[in-house]
Amino acid sequence: MTRYSRITGTGSYLPPRRVTNADLAADLAAKGIETSDEWIIERTGIRARHFAAPDVTSSDLGAHAARAALESAGLKAGEIDLIIVATSTPDMVFPSAACILQNKLGIAGCAAFDVQAVCSGFVYALTVADSMIKTGSANKALVIGAEVFSRILDFNDRTTCVLFGDGAGAVVLEASDTPGILATDLHADGKHVGILCVPGTVSGGAVLGDPFLKMDGQAVFKLAVGVLESAARATLAKAGKTDADIDWLIPHQANIRIMQGTAKKLKMPLDKLIVTVDEHGNTSAASIPLALDAAVRSGKIKKGDTLMLEGVGGGFTWGAVLLDF
Ligand code: ACO
Repeated sequence: MTRYSRITGTGSYLPPRRVTNADLAADLAAKGIETSDEWIIERTGIRARHFAAPDVTSSDLGAHAARAALESAGLKAGEIDLIIVATSTPDMVFPSAACILQNKLGIAGCAAFDVQAVCSGFVYALTVADSMIKTGSANKALVIGAEVFSRILDFNDRTTCVLFGDGAGAVVLEASDTPGILATDLHADGKHVGILCVPGTVSGGAVLGDPFLKMDGQAVFKLAVGVLESAARATLAKAGKTDADIDWLIPHQANIRIMQGTAKKLKMPLDKLIVTVDEHGNTSAASIPLALDAAVRSGKIKKGDTLMLEGVGGGFTWGAVLLDF
């Protein structure tokens, strides 16, 4: 019998501090930097984002999301045999956020590791978990996207600090006789490292280089729209499906204009696009599972719906996962 993987539970968590565009504009104005609610909404679709308290880490946010996903799957943490955390803002240089999170869930022994593919991290992690389940190396996986991007933002740079937020989303992925995940498609092109990066590193007991996020927004924008369409088409072709088979499109929540451009290219009506960027900002690897969980809990996404998840981000990396929910 063919072995598939299937999402059986979703969960998410946002830190309580909600920061509106007006809040950010006031903070920046105090430093003589101009921005406005109108500029941010018009260019990005973002109205607010959440920022974690200084002592809260990605594994803290991820553990909250994981517990919610376990509850919705009707599983206990001890039944999990694989944990993958997608993050670019781990708690420490090492060990992985996944190991720290495993301990916070009160379990031990199962495989746990991080995947680092920036904003594509969740589709990368889901693809790895799907492969491990299909080959029999795992049966019940927690796949989590968790980020504290506020830690790597330069709050003197209005071109980046208004775009990102903190949060976590999680799914439980289980072995199943029926699909589940229908097809996946992952890519990277390292020649674009410089257009979106945090170039600093830890060396000799200090941070060497710049520890803040740098982005060429227009270069990212142009690349993102093209690769999101090609990844969706490749995934549909692998699964023998067409645009018309997609019930819900859940792209990485970076910018409403990129998301709407992608929906248009896939000939999808905008009411089939799941949008949470307005309230979450760009939470990098957490954005897709946060959006998925919000849409499931609001009753939009129902069992049996066909979902196209799409990630794009630093690396440059991109990819898609087509699945029956
Ligand atoms: N408030 C007010 N003005 C601003 C701000 C701000 N926060 N930021 C930039 N500006 C100014 C610029 O200085 C510039 O002024 P100038 O004309 O006097 O030089 C003007 O606004 C236009 O700047 P652009 O960079 O051309 O603005 P653009 O329309 O390209 O929008 C944005 C910028 C929103 C970053 C856009 O390029 C974008 O969304 N790119 C995609 C990048 C993205 O989503 N990245 C997220 C991470 S990557 C990922 O997750 C895929």
